[in-house]
Amino acid sequence: MAKHKLARFAENRTFTNLFQHDNYDLQKSSFPLKGNWQKHYFKNENPIVLELGCGKGEYTIAMSQAYPDKNFIGIDRKGARLWRGAKTAFERQMMNVAFLRIGIENIADFFAASEIDEIWITFPDPQPKKERRRLTSPQYIERYKQLISDEATINLKTDSRELYQYTLETAIALHWKIIETIEDVYLQSSDLLLTTIQTFYEQRWVKEGKMISFIKFNVNQ
Ligand SMILES: C[S@@+](CC[C@H](N)C(=O)[O-])C[C@H]1O[C@@H](n2cnc3c(N)ncnc32)[C@H](O)[C@@H]1O
Repeated sequence: MAKHKLARFAENRTFTNLFQHDNYDLQKSSFPLKGNWQKHYFKNENPIVLELGCGKGEYTIAMSQAYPDKNFIGIDRKGARLWRGAKTAFERQMMNVAFLRIGIENIADFFAASEIDEIWITFPDPQPKKERRRLTSPQYIERYKQLISDEATINLKTDSRELYQYTLETAIALHWKIIETIEDVYLQSSDLLLTTIQTFYEQRWVKEGKMISFIKFNVNQ
């Protein structure tokens, strides 16, 4: 394994804001913060927002600065990417941020019913061949339903025309409530949350001239 990755993995173990699945034996007992994130980690009663497949955590970090009255948790399975966000939040002593290194397919092991108020999915792999692996597929939405409140919104920002169309069509077919759709974010939106925060992957796609799309929906109402 590359040296810099090993160094990051070692440093990850020193971050008090990063929780990693391999530190817990969930066969023996449940994840200690499940149902307790507000009380035992954030030490407040503010709503919790997740960024799924957060990579280096650009949205988690930027949103936590813009919304100090909310709590943010960036989730990814790749430790070397999470290192970036966790280190930034750790060094800046950002108290409303955490990172979780897990497979999103196991997300229900880490949060209790209604513990989550909003989800952001930023530039996920579009998974053109395997629908069930798409982070907006009905299979994944069923997992999210186990932990989100009734009013929770799910936000998808993507460069993939196929994933955008797929999510829109699935939402219509399954009667999810579509709150907002923006086909071309940089042409049609003035929302600073969408136009001023760019993730690592987004910067690459924007440079290549790809259109960036956004959809916000609710699956419980
Ligand atoms: C294309 S990258 C986007 C990263 C970041 N959001 C960005 O825009 O720069 C997709 C990310 O999703 C993560 N990912 C994909 N499937 C996952 C899963 N099932 N569980 C956890 N992370 C996953 C990958 O590790 C990767 O970091």
